Amino acid sequence: MEQKVFFIKTFGCQMNERDSEIMAQSLSTYGYVEGMDIAGADLIILNTCSIRAKAEQKVMSMLGYLRKNKKNKPDLKICVAGCVAQQEGKRILKKMPHVDLVVGTQNIYNIGELLLESSKNGPQAAIGLDDKYDIPNLLPTLSSRNQDATISIQPFRKFVTIMQGCNNYCTYCVVPHTRGREVSRKSNDIIDEVNALVKGGTKEITLLGQNVNSYGKTNSVSDNGNSYSFSDLLREVSEVKGLKRLRFTTSNPKDLTDDLMRCFQNIDNLCHQFHLPVQAGSDSVLKKMNRKYTVRQYLNLVDNLRHYCPEIALTTDVIVGFPGESPEDFEGTMNLLEKVQFHGSFSFKYSDRPGTRAGSFEEKIDETIKSERLARFQARQDEISFKRNREYVGKIKTVMVEDCSNDSVKSRTETNHIVHCAKTIDARPGDCLDVTITRAGQHSLQGKIINPG
Ligand code: SAH
Ligand code: SF4
Ligand code: F3S
Repeated sequence: MEQKVFFIKTFGCQMNERDSEIMAQSLSTYGYVEGMDIAGADLIILNTCSIRAKAEQKVMSMLGYLRKNKKNKPDLKICVAGCVAQQEGKRILKKMPHVDLVVGTQNIYNIGELLLESSKNGPQAAIGLDDKYDIPNLLPTLSSRNQDATISIQPFRKFVTIMQGCNNYCTYCVVPHTRGREVSRKSNDIIDEVNALVKGGTKEITLLGQNVNSYGKTNSVSDNGNSYSFSDLLREVSEVKGLKRLRFTTSNPKDLTDDLMRCFQNIDNLCHQFHLPVQAGSDSVLKKMNRKYTVRQYLNLVDNLRHYCPEIALTTDVIVGFPGESPEDFEGTMNLLEKVQFHGSFSFKYSDRPGTRAGSFEEKIDETIKSERLARFQARQDEISFKRNREYVGKIKTVMVEDCSNDSVKSRTETNHIVHCAKTIDARPGDCLDVTITRAGQHSLQGKIINPG
């Protein structure tokens, strides 16, 4: 078979990163190898994100730019996958006639077949979204990607998708529309995948879902039909021999159980880190967002988490300028920031998304006000993150090495902090070392290697 080169550019969340791996693996069985850039590629895939308008615009402008490439190389195939593909479907083919293939979020496993189909019969859009989607089981092969092609591919740290879709319908969010109804994978399939990865050298696994706390709630995930929760899955995955670190993302506070919080106390390799998106610090805004918890309930969860695991590093997501957000509502968000003192946060200006309820809400907030609020929030968060980072100075931490190719060693703590050390010993990515934290910066820590961990 003639070997062809594909190049894949991934936008958006970790779920898309994992989906890109799946497409890469699937394409490798159709005679494709992964290339490092657009220039030498016979197939270009944009795996897209639609979470905010800006994300979608980025994709559209890159697609427009690719028109030239197609003109210069008529055999070039251009494919749009992911959430924008799902949302726009055939409209992409109309607007961008140089696109050959639109692959929706549930069709990524068929990308090879769909490409053949488009070669025979012209441009295709496969965007079926099945409510009872049975997530295919494709065991990962660590060698399926060109390690040089993308810096995000590190075989010692891998993502494992445990569920697809979301049923929460937060009023601002496009995900339930682009990823469909919530379906959980069978627990045995997940364990098989983790086993295969760890056997291949993976040391750290992150379990992925839009709302991992509701794993196993919408469909049966155990072979014997017994109830099986996310905490059950965490316990089982944590026992895979050779797995050093376990993480998960993302959690909706409304489904966070005491059983799950206790896992931080009882599971040794579960990292002391929790991403718990709050979105807003005002009850009336939370209600309009359909988040189904109050500020008080959120603060109680934070107290409980810290009770079970005092050193847990908490991060969050925040939206400013949701429709109708008053100055007082925004002060509520600032107050919450003071109360929780998050280790870090991701904050965004509210953005209208197609098909969402908030898109038609009145009292949209002015862009300049949104920008002011975002700047104020981020400036305060930066101060808090810096203060939090300084708390680590003088402490001894076990870190996992990520990069040891230069004079310094880049590594990560359990709490997800990056630590840079002078290279006093040789180490490989995935090795664990003990370090003393010597300095704190705004975005990372510095340390000194004391001995192999
Ligand atoms: N499933 C995750 C969120 C995934 S989207 C959860 O429920 O926590 C990641 C983040 O993008 C969200 O937490 C939210 O803060 C932000 N986001 C989602 N839709 C948005 C919109 N329309 N405008 C601005 N930010 C948005
Ligand atoms: Fe979107 Fe809400 Fe689902 Fe998260 S829980 S993906 S914010 S609808
Ligand atoms: Fe973006 Fe889709 Fe992920 S909208 S954040 S790529 S689920």
